[in-house]
Amino acid sequence: MKKTRKRVAILISGRGSNMVALIEAARARDYPAEIVLVVSNRPGARGLAVAKTKGVATTVVDHTGFATREAFEAALEAKLAAAEVEIVCLAGFMRVFTRSLVDRWRGRMLNIHPSLLPAFKGLDTHARALAAGVKTHGCSVHFVAHELDSGPIVMQATVPVLDDDDEEKLAARVLEEEHRIYPAVLRLLAEDRLKIEGERVIVAGGGKRVDLSPASPKP
Ligand code: GRF
Repeated sequence: MKKTRKRVAILISGRGSNMVALIEAARARDYPAEIVLVVSNRPGARGLAVAKTKGVATTVVDHTGFATREAFEAALEAKLAAAEVEIVCLAGFMRVFTRSLVDRWRGRMLNIHPSLLPAFKGLDTHARALAAGVKTHGCSVHFVAHELDSGPIVMQATVPVLDDDDEEKLAARVLEEEHRIYPAVLRLLAEDRLKIEGERVIVAGGGKRVDLSPASPKP
């Protein structure tokens, strides 16, 4: 029997480098998901043009054109429904959703955050990690829940914080890991291998540890 690939939308607000990582991963013949739509809430998002060059359908739902969050979300969900989207990946999407939208997509909406959650929720994570003096930093892919940057964590990757790091260097090191783990997590979700138990996510099927251990620090 031919396996059907899960239909995925990526929501962006900016440059879209994680979007590109997901689009590229989904080009593989054995990848269990296809990227059917990229949605931006900002008409000027750089990632929109990039998605187009990669042959992915794009659309804009500009939040500034709606009187309420509910109206914005209704328009957004209409686009997702029209494209028969089954999974949503937030990738640098800078809007907070209502509780009812989050409830409707529970277990089917992922986000990537540039810190080792629950540390450093919110913005400017790299600057805050440097200011806090942590020696290990990283990124997390998690299911979206009501509270911002919370929800069951599926996968994390760590990077060392080096003595001569500035925000830019640290961000680049973390971003490399983001591009590695987000496609890996989408694969697991699209294969129906993720089970949410409370705050924990269990990778079902085979009982094997998914080995995505961090790359060793470059000399
Ligand atoms: C990434 O660091 C992601 O973790 C965060 O926003 C940034 C988006 O970057 N949520 P990009 O648009 O994917 O390049």
